[in-house]
Amino acid sequence: MKAVILVGGEATRLLPLTCNIPKAMVPVLNIPFLEHVIRYLNEHQVRDIILAQGHLAKPIEGYLGNGSQFGVKLSYTAEDTPRGTAGAVKNGERYLDETFLVLNGDIFTDLNITAMIGTHREKKAKATIALTPVDDPTSYGLIETNAEGRVTRFLEKPSWSQVTTKMINAGTYVVEPEVLSQIPPQVNFSFERNLFPLLLEQGEPIYAYPSAAYWMDIGTPEKYLQLHRDLLSGKSSQHTFASGEEVLIGGQSHIQATAEVKGTVVIGDNCSIGGGVKLIGPVVIGSGCTILEGAVIKESIIWRNAWLGRGVKLKSSIVADNCCLNANSIIEGSVLGDRVTVGSSCKLESGSKIEPGTTV
Ligand code: GTP
Repeated sequence: MKAVILVGGEATRLLPLTCNIPKAMVPVLNIPFLEHVIRYLNEHQVRDIILAQGHLAKPIEGYLGNGSQFGVKLSYTAEDTPRGTAGAVKNGERYLDETFLVLNGDIFTDLNITAMIGTHREKKAKATIALTPVDDPTSYGLIETNAEGRVTRFLEKPSWSQVTTKMINAGTYVVEPEVLSQIPPQVNFSFERNLFPLLLEQGEPIYAYPSAAYWMDIGTPEKYLQLHRDLLSGKSSQHTFASGEEVLIGGQSHIQATAEVKGTVVIGDNCSIGGGVKLIGPVVIGSGCTILEGAVIKESIIWRNAWLGRGVKLKSSIVADNCCLNANSIIEGSVLGDRVTVGSSCKLESGSKIEPGTTV
């Protein structure tokens, strides 16, 4: 079976992390998010994959190439202006002549897509939508079904008074190719807001596939941090962190004996962790990072090549590539784009989002 992964869009809610890279290339446990998705598809024997890209196309193709390194075959489409989720699939119509999967490229899930495809075929559906329960469905697309699992209503971002179910659109679909003829070419068209409601109106059989399997989208910095907390505490079956007290250290990395490590910590290659440094997990440090004496890093994600001076305090934050946090700076609850410099003893206001290349 073929799959289309949607990796375009504006990714406005994940800024400033996505100023220079697509959301799908944001690292999770030190590897690009998309690589996790491709490995997951490969495990389900889905190996013919179309990447529906937006304007930031180069980083994805440059990293994944033709996919042979990951045991899959990759094809690419690109858009000069965002086509929306269904418009993006229409753009790849030439590759799609049989039942196919569509995946939002910002969702990490253990959903059993093999079983989902089975249900789609059994019900003879034109489209099947995976559903997942969430505590607060008001910022998602809510989907109502009848007793047979057939979709009866879509409600995009409902108010609390409209909430009748906590099952939301999980961003994974099985689709019949004839549905593509319902998508107008060259325009912005969405599965959630346009195509599925249209098919419902036409009386086409759309089914739901509810699942309680692990599911998390990385649409916002908070959820990106939550995904790491979940993976590092063993909530997904795709990673085997279980003890809550585990340290993984990459090749050529050195940790001074007086450094203290608590909770689950992942350190990439070629890192140097100085004496008296405290790492209080969940913490992920990308390759090529230098952390000097006495720095304290708690519940944070640092991408590649960061330099943290003596006594830096970093808590509940995300630091993108090539940042420099000078001595004794204090950063809490913040998101730093790539190449940000924070001055010595500077204290960032909690909730700060710093644009790439800025000095503060
Ligand atoms: P926000 O601006 O933060 O809402 O992000 P987004 O534009 O990425 O939208 P959303 O999170 O709803 O997108 C769901 C998935 O579809 C993500 O994996 C996006 O990468 C992808 N996506 C959204 N819009 C487009 C589009 O116009 N073209 C393509 N190719 N992919 C898209």
